[in-house]
Amino acid sequence: MKPRVDTSRNPDIRAVCGGSGSGKSSYVKAELKKLKPKRLIIWDPVDEYGDLCNMRITSPRELADLLKRYPHGALKVRFVSDGKEMFEFWARCAFAWCNAAVVAEETADVTSPSKAPYWWGQLIRKGRARGLSPIFALTQRPAESDKTAIGNATLFRTGRLKRADDRKMVAKELDVHVNEVTGLKPLDFVERNDVTGEVKKGNLAST
Ligand SMILES: Nc1ncnc2c1ncn2[C@@H]1O[C@H](COP(=O)(O)OP(=O)(O)O)[C@@H](O)[C@H]1O
Ligand SMILES: [Mg+2]
Repeated sequence: MKPRVDTSRNPDIRAVCGGSGSGKSSYVKAELKKLKPKRLIIWDPVDEYGDLCNMRITSPRELADLLKRYPHGALKVRFVSDGKEMFEFWARCAFAWCNAAVVAEETADVTSPSKAPYWWGQLIRKGRARGLSPIFALTQRPAESDKTAIGNATLFRTGRLKRADDRKMVAKELDVHVNEVTGLKPLDFVERNDVTGEVKKGNLAST
């Protein structure tokens, strides 16, 4: 019998930063189109993943019931909700579900810099051992978000950022001069692969 949890994948946690309109969601959608995960679970507070994921759930009960009905099979589901409590509920569901790609949109709205919400922390730290990969964590305001995703990221990526404290924090994380981050144009990005150490720069419209 095949084991329930697929741990064969490499760690793949991608922290994606950038101000509103910098291309975070477009990057994640392009990656999902390439990766074509059979199982996908998205925290989708602004209801923007309809093109990739038609199962749209808004009630926590319905989310839990649906996931229980699909312990193994193909399913792409997005939870359109808001608030810290619902985010934790979603993270707990994703953690229990196993073997899926995970997207968490706008984590600064539902986490804080001081302490990771419990199940979100579990998802990031122990997700791979449960076949949860890749995990995409997106934020407009990295300096105000929980650092678990950033601290555990295998890929750290930023687009243009609006606030100076975010630019400073991101430059430090990428180990580049802050001017490189300040100088980013719309849809420009800089990313650092923590496995290879490679730093890549580009523009979403030309990649
Ligand atoms: N490859 C691309 N070429 C041109 N425009 C793009 C491309 N990718 C994204 N955009 C545009 O950039 C804008 C911001 O993208 P989005 O991914 O929603 O940003 P964010 O998630 O960071 O707020 C959107 O209006 C989108 O249409
Ligand atoms: Mg977005």
